[in-house]
Order: sequence, then C-alpha cells, then structure tokens
Amino acid sequence: ERTHAWATQDIDPTDTVPMVGPLHPGAHHTYVATGFGGWGLSGGMMAGRLLTAQITREECAWSGLYDPRRLRTAVREAPALLKTQAEVARHFVGDRLRPTPPVEALPPGEGAVVRAGGDRLAVYRDEEGALHAVSPRCTHLGCLVDFNAAERAWECPCHGSRFGTDGRVLEGPATKPLERREI
Ligand code: FES
Repeated sequence: ERTHAWATQDIDPTDTVPMVGPLHPGAHHTYVATGFGGWGLSGGMMAGRLLTAQITREECAWSGLYDPRRLRTAVREAPALLKTQAEVARHFVGDRLRPTPPVEALPPGEGAVVRAGGDRLAVYRDEEGALHAVSPRCTHLGCLVDFNAAERAWECPCHGSRFGTDGRVLEGPATKPLERREI
C-alpha cells in the first residue's frame, strides 16, 4: 500500500548551466540562485560559496560561468527560445483538440479537463465525491492546464504555472488564480 508520495519541479536554463549571481545587469544588491535542473543539493552548496564570494567581493574563478546575465544575448538564445515557443504553441493548439473524459468517470482524488455545456472546465472530484470546477485557461498566457494527481494541483504545460484545486496560484509565472466555475 502506498502511504507517501513526493514530487518536484526542476528548473532548467536553456543552456543547462545554473544561474548564480546578480539578478540582472543593473542589480547591485539583488542576487539569484536557480536553474539547478534537479541537482539542488550540490548546486546549492556551490551557489552558497559563489554568492558569499561575490557579496564579500572576493575573486571567484567560476563567476562568469554561472552569471545569470550571460543569457541576455538574443542571438545565442534564439534556437533554444524558438524550440520552447514551438512547444508552447503545440500545447496551446493541441491541448484544445484533445478528447475530454465524461465528468462521471472522474474517481475521487482525480481531476481532468472536461466539457460541460459547450465549455471546457477543469474539474476536481474530492475524496467525499464533491466536484470543484475552475476555468482550465491558465491566467498567464492562456494554455490549458493539466491535473497532477500526485500533487492534487492544476499545472500548465507551457511555462510551469501551478494552481490549487480551488484555482489559487501555487507557483508562477501566473499571478492570478484560475476563475471559479459552477458545475
Ligand atoms: S501559459 Fe504560461 S504558465 Fe500557463
């Protein structure tokens, strides 16, 4: 019998190298450490040492390698960005053509995007059997969310926004909740 579950979201920069250093070209006192691609334990240690060196103005040979500002060259980033955007477009169109299950087929603890009254709804059935519906349209740029049963959350395949079963934002880039709907 399964008693526990665990899930994670990994952040991968387009060039696969973590970003550790000043947040943006004009930043003097704001630093970032992200993009560890699932290697947060070792990457976190490295980031701690690197940021300490930068804040205390020590020389550090790896600063340039992990500098978050390295990605601002549009030409260098273009192929990776185009690939990402093609993937977003595929989800934006393809997910709207996907067949939807009947709401009656949803077991407790599950969610799915279903059709109801000519509209699409993101519907979650709780353990007591009650249905909770929100708009499936991500409030970031409009892709359709998917249900993650392990985390009981709605997730957007386009840029990774996550929402609770009641639509509240768990993780951006979206800043607004999914609209509540009647079912
Ligand atoms: S459309 Fe960008 S996170 Fe959903």
